[in-house]
Amino acid sequence: MWVRVTNEGGSVGFVPPVTADDIRPTAARSFEKVRQGTDALVCLTLPAESDKNAQKSDPVGSFQDAQNELANVSGTKSDNRASTALSGPLPGGRVVAWLLLAESESLLRRHWRTVYRVQVDPKHQGAGLGTALMAAAAAYAKDALGLEALTLMTRSGTGAERFYKRCGYREVGRIPGAIRVAPNDSRDEVHFWLDL
Ligand SMILES: CC(C)(COP(=O)(O)OP(=O)(O)OC[C@H]1O[C@@H](n2cnc3c(N)ncnc32)[C@H](O)[C@@H]1OP(=O)(O)O)[C@@H](O)C(=O)NCCC(=O)NCCS
Repeated sequence: MWVRVTNEGGSVGFVPPVTADDIRPTAARSFEKVRQGTDALVCLTLPAESDKNAQKSDPVGSFQDAQNELANVSGTKSDNRASTALSGPLPGGRVVAWLLLAESESLLRRHWRTVYRVQVDPKHQGAGLGTALMAAAAAYAKDALGLEALTLMTRSGTGAERFYKRCGYREVGRIPGAIRVAPNDSRDEVHFWLDL
């Protein structure tokens, strides 16, 4: 999914075109942190049948299916769904949206986490799954992890800023030109914050 999302223009750490080999080392490092219980993986799944029919099913139906499956969360050592998520299909079916909640290495920054890699399967974008995913992440961060806030960073000029504002996040900072996606194309790094 990460490869397809990137190649369709998503801003998830890479610029297109990419192959699985380009992303695999980063993915391996990210999911190793989930396996160790440092970071949490929040994902939405659809029953396999819904995914097979995604092209012809109506998006609202997909959204409701995903809400019914909501929400598979892994990341704590005590949660045996973590190993399920990493070693094979989730019980609910195929993952159609996911993100990571990263813990800071600083002991002074443990009351909040950073949201990253937010992505919805391109076949299912625009059907409300992204909004549902962000809500599931906020609920998990508050209720299960006991956090006070979430933060995230995005590159300017993608439209994602509007999406995060609609999810309740507010812009708290902007570093001009910090992200160079091509030799003559530098984007601002925009910092968002959500009080839980
Ligand atoms: C961004 C993303 C997670 C949103 O998920 P989604 O399921 O498509 O979003 P939703 O259907 O819940 O949309 C919610 C609202 O945000 C808007 N929106 C979503 N993505 C948007 C974008 N890239 N630009 C502008 N608006 C966007 C939708 O139009 C919708 O608004 P509406 O209700 O007025 O129509 C998804 O499009 C995606 O995976 N994009 C590629 C990866 C990426 O760039 N991630 C962001 C990393 S910072």
